[in-house]
This record gives sequence, C-alpha cells and structure tokens, in this order.
Amino acid sequence: MSLLDGRVAVVTGGSSGIGRGIALAYAEAGADVVVCDIREEPKEGGAPTHEKIESDTDSSATYVELDVTDPAAFEEAMDAAEAFGGVDVMVNNAGIWRPEEFLEVTEAEFQGMMDINLKGVYFGAQAAATRMVESGGGSIINVSSVNGIFGNGNYPTYSASKGAVRTLSYSLAHGLGGDNVRVNAIHPGAIKTKIGPEGAEETSEEQMAQLNAMIPLGRQGEPDDVAGVAVFLASDLSKYVTGESIVVDGGWTSWR
Ligand SMILES: NC(=O)c1ccc[n+]([C@@H]2O[C@H](COP(=O)([O-])OP(=O)(O)OC[C@H]3O[C@@H](n4cnc5c(N)ncnc54)[C@H](O)[C@@H]3O)[C@@H](O)[C@H]2O)c1
Repeated sequence: MSLLDGRVAVVTGGSSGIGRGIALAYAEAGADVVVCDIREEPKEGGAPTHEKIESDTDSSATYVELDVTDPAAFEEAMDAAEAFGGVDVMVNNAGIWRPEEFLEVTEAEFQGMMDINLKGVYFGAQAAATRMVESGGGSIINVSSVNGIFGNGNYPTYSASKGAVRTLSYSLAHGLGGDNVRVNAIHPGAIKTKIGPEGAEETSEEQMAQLNAMIPLGRQGEPDDVAGVAVFLASDLSKYVTGESIVVDGGWTSWR
C-alpha cells in the first residue's frame, strides 16, 4: 500500500519546477494527478509532467491548460479530477517571482503578481473546497515562500502576496475544518528552478556560495525536497495537521 493510493490530486503550475516535483512524487506515491498550467512543456526540459507520470509510474495523469488568474477555469480541472474519482488533494502552487524597485512598481505590475500568487490560490482553494465539502473532505496545500514569513526589500509585492497566502491558509483551515478539509501552507526557501524572469542572469558561483553559506544544510533545495513535505500533507500521516505553515528551507530562516 502506498501513501496516496486511490487519491486524486490537482497541481497548479505542475509543468515545471516545484509543481512538477510534487506531481511526480504524488504519482509515485499512488495518486492520479491533474496537471494544470499555462504551458505544457517543462521550463527545465524533459517530457511533459503528465506524460512522464503515465510512462514512469502506475498512476494516471492528465493535463489541463489553465490560467490561475481566471477563477472559472478551475471548473475544468475539477471535472478532470472527477473523471479519476474526484479531487482529494489540491496543490495551489503556480506562482511568479521577480525582483523589483518598490518606488517604481506600477499598479499593473502589482496587480499582475497578486492575480497569480494570491487570487490564483484563493479561487483554486475555493473550487477544490466546494467539491471536497460535497465529498466528505480533502487536503489543500498552498505554496507560499519563506518570503511569506520575512520581508525582502528587493521584492515587496512577492513578499506581500506570499504573506497573504500564509494567513489565507490559516483562515481556510479554521473555516473548513468542520467539513474535514485540511488546509496547510508550505514555505520553500531557495529551490533550484527556473522561476526567475526570462533572460535573467544565471546565479554566479560566488552568489551561490554566499547563499549556501547562509543555509545550515549548506545547499539550495531541489523540487524533490519540497515534494516530500507535500506528500506528507496530502497523506493520512498528517491527518491531524491543519492551519500549519511548514518551512522547507534547509534551516535558512531558523537563525535569521
Ligand atoms: N524556486 C524557489 O526558490 C521558490 C521559493 C519559494 C517559493 N516558491 C514558490 O513555489 C511555486 C513554484 O515555483 P517554481 O520555483 O517551481 O517556479 P517555476 O517557474 O519553475 O514553475 C512555475 C510553474 O507555474 C506556471 N504558471 C505561472 N503562471 C501561471 C498561471 N497564471 N497559471 C497557471 N500556471 C502558471 C509556470 O508556467 C510554471 O510551469 C511558486 O508559487 C513560487 O513562488 C519558489
């Protein structure tokens, strides 16, 4: 028996990076997966996530092209999950990051980031919770960031959006506990993905060494490091855990 046998998971931003890592880990743990994204091809290359799941695991997967800024779009994802038996696990992972100068941020830039990082999580959770309340329960996992815990003057909109995801998760856990829907947040630290703006300079060896020196475990994380915690939160191992915020950062925030 695997941890997620018989479960159905929906993962937004599941084509690349952390979402891809979570989707693959869920499938390996026995879940069928609905991968939602605005792009099918992983940013880092390789087979699309749903194809890799179908070829490498015993689980089923499908891809739904979905922009999380459109609340109505989640219905198609929920229907795709219904075809597998109904959503048990919803991972609101899709997000963007960019450095910015606070005094120059425009309203459109602010709104664009909030629409993906916060509104996308809000209405993704709402769509999933609606089905979960009807079916008797489920687990919602919202991907925030260590920047949802501490601030960073280099990306104030991102930090604000991620802090809101944390307190949203607490509120939903409170509101939905009576319906057996658990809601938790994950706060990744520095994870090796291609989240930076297109064309941005690669992190230099020197910057990498400086960053690693601040992380007690001495290295940046891999999507797989976050996926393990997402499997825990999706499974019955965490059946009495809700309204929790789990930091996955190699110890970085523990001594800041
Ligand atoms: N990489 C890190 O160091 C790090 C740290 C903390 C938090 N996070 C968070 O983890 C999550 C995943 O980030 P990642 O590093 O894997 O990034 P990524 O860019 O590698 O992957 C994000 C995926 O989300 C998709 N996406 C973007 N906008 C979308 C939209 N409007 N609708 C649907 N899909 C959309 C992208 O196409 C991409 O496939 C984000 O919420 C991010 O803020 C990442």
